[in-house]
Amino acid sequence: MFSCQTKHYISMLPRFLILGIETSCDETGVALYDTAEGLLADALHSQVDLHARYGGVVPELASRDHIQRLLPLVDEVLERSRRRVEDIDLVAFTQGPGLGGALLVGASVAAGLGLALERPVVGIHHLEGHLLSPLLADPKPAFPFVALLVSGGHTQLMRVDGVGDYRLLGETQDDAAGEAFDKTATLLGLGYPGGPALARLAETGDPRRFAFPRPMIASGDLDFSFSGLKTAALLRIRSLDNADEEVRADVAASFEAAIVDVLVRKCLRALEREGMQRLVVAGGVGANAKLRARLTAEAAACGAEVYFPPLRLCTDNGAMIAFAAALKLASANHGLEGFPVFPRWDLAESARETQSTPRR
Ligand code: KG4
Ligand code: ZN
Repeated sequence: MFSCQTKHYISMLPRFLILGIETSCDETGVALYDTAEGLLADALHSQVDLHARYGGVVPELASRDHIQRLLPLVDEVLERSRRRVEDIDLVAFTQGPGLGGALLVGASVAAGLGLALERPVVGIHHLEGHLLSPLLADPKPAFPFVALLVSGGHTQLMRVDGVGDYRLLGETQDDAAGEAFDKTATLLGLGYPGGPALARLAETGDPRRFAFPRPMIASGDLDFSFSGLKTAALLRIRSLDNADEEVRADVAASFEAAIVDVLVRKCLRALEREGMQRLVVAGGVGANAKLRARLTAEAAACGAEVYFPPLRLCTDNGAMIAFAAALKLASANHGLEGFPVFPRWDLAESARETQSTPRR
């Protein structure tokens, strides 16, 4: 069920039932992970319909909705797994980064459950959840690997040598790739959430119709920039008065091709620079079919392999939080320490701190 390395880590643990809670943004995710049996159940409530009419996430509405959804989802995963709440050995929750109010909902429920059940509670870095989620798939990568974290708030390349051992190789200097997808989708009248809608429209478009810039593609480093591309899309869309569906599809396809080109090139450069042959892609944009296909093909041409989480676990979910807690517990790199939340939290920084001052 696990790769040798992951199995090695987790099999050192006594049998543990971990409840994972994710409430960092607009999805309420809950999962139960058993260190002996693997993922037992995961349940998700998406707030897409709630925020759609505003064209983006409204933080206060997000928090209120998490409050309503969280406990019923906990009941749901317990019922589906045929476990009782008293069976839970550890509660893991997303501690940050994310929306402060939304994070506090998950943190408070986790702390409340921990107190009531007299079980430890552990805060997990949201990006670490994404980063380790490809280890939930089959086949799964062994350490070390290069990871592309590509979501609505982050675009980063990391070197991952083990659980808790992360080094930032490069990141966006402005917008995240998901943010560029979302904003361009809005300009195309596609609404929220934009990434999947833009990708759908792009399916019928011609990616060569409009020559959008590939920012920083030849910069020689591993950083990204997407705000200029977003502006180029804005200017192009404005210049196309009353564009019909076909032209809009061409804009979407050309825009998507530009982002995919940059992400693919930088990933291959990171592999080459680090002398690695394993690439892991995580975060919501990792659900993009063109990105998955191009990365898989081009990495294979260089003798490298690409690993993705299962498609449904690319975007935010509770399974990745429970699973990250299991791996951290197994590697003795966990933080059992109350429930502060960190709306802004740098993953590479956090890994460095953990290494220099090991947590309890
Ligand atoms: O990881 P995630 O669920 O939440 C954050 O932590 O940000 O990622 C959400 C982001 C959004 O920007 C969304 O538009 C983008 O992932 N996304 C996609 C696709 N599915 C989700 N972008 C492009 N193509 C997709 N198929
Ligand atoms: Zn995320």
